[in-house]
Amino acid sequence: MNNKRKILVRSMEKIYSFYSPFYDFIFGKTLQPGRELAFSYLNKDPYQKILEIGVGTGITFTLYPKQSHIVGIDISPKMIERAKKKAAISSNGHKISLYVMDACNLEFEDESFDAVISPYVITTVKDPLKLCHEMHRVCKIGGQIIIVNHSKSPHGLRSRFEEWLSPFFARVGFVTDLDVVELVSSTEIQVEKVVDCNIFNLHKVIVGLKK
Ligand SMILES: C[S@@+](CC[C@H](N)C(=O)[O-])C[C@H]1O[C@@H](n2cnc3c(N)ncnc32)[C@H](O)[C@@H]1O
Repeated sequence: MNNKRKILVRSMEKIYSFYSPFYDFIFGKTLQPGRELAFSYLNKDPYQKILEIGVGTGITFTLYPKQSHIVGIDISPKMIERAKKKAAISSNGHKISLYVMDACNLEFEDESFDAVISPYVITTVKDPLKLCHEMHRVCKIGGQIIIVNHSKSPHGLRSRFEEWLSPFFARVGFVTDLDVVELVSSTEIQVEKVVDCNIFNLHKVIVGLKK
């Protein structure tokens, strides 16, 4: 594993458990346009079983198609506690199941979900490639795999700046030196669309498919 990418699961769990009481206040509105854009690409059929990787406080529950079965996983038990409180008051006929689980070792059978979505998580895990394989594995054939995240610029000054900043941001919960678009495109996930979002278009919505 790349040295820079040695983010331990344990430390991410600690960092995000620490953030949990005020996560929505800090990262709620600022990252919401990207969440809304990502969910806008989700097939609107009701009664889908959709996996959300890194569900956090459950800030996305209102964005799901009606009557969907939302299965959310997160490494942080404190985040899952918060998400459970939101789930208890969620409407739209959702069924919501929540588990503490590592995104890189999903405890689900192959092809268990109609779609898999992961907002702002891929740069927080220790093995982003494994995460992509896991998302692909648990998704049904023909299902959507949607990611929204910061993605390092492929070249130029911005790219070097993002590499330089990465060790600092790693201490607060994510890296900035990962070209997420390139990484996802190198996997078995078929990338259908990449759309810019959020402040200065620094983030990307990647809409993929399991063929
Ligand atoms: C930046 S937050 C994103 C939360 C939410 N998806 C959102 O839209 O705001 C990253 C989340 O990923 C979770 N996470 C980090 N590493 C993880 C892992 N290995 N497995 C599962 N969840 C993880 C963190 O606990 C945190 O809740």
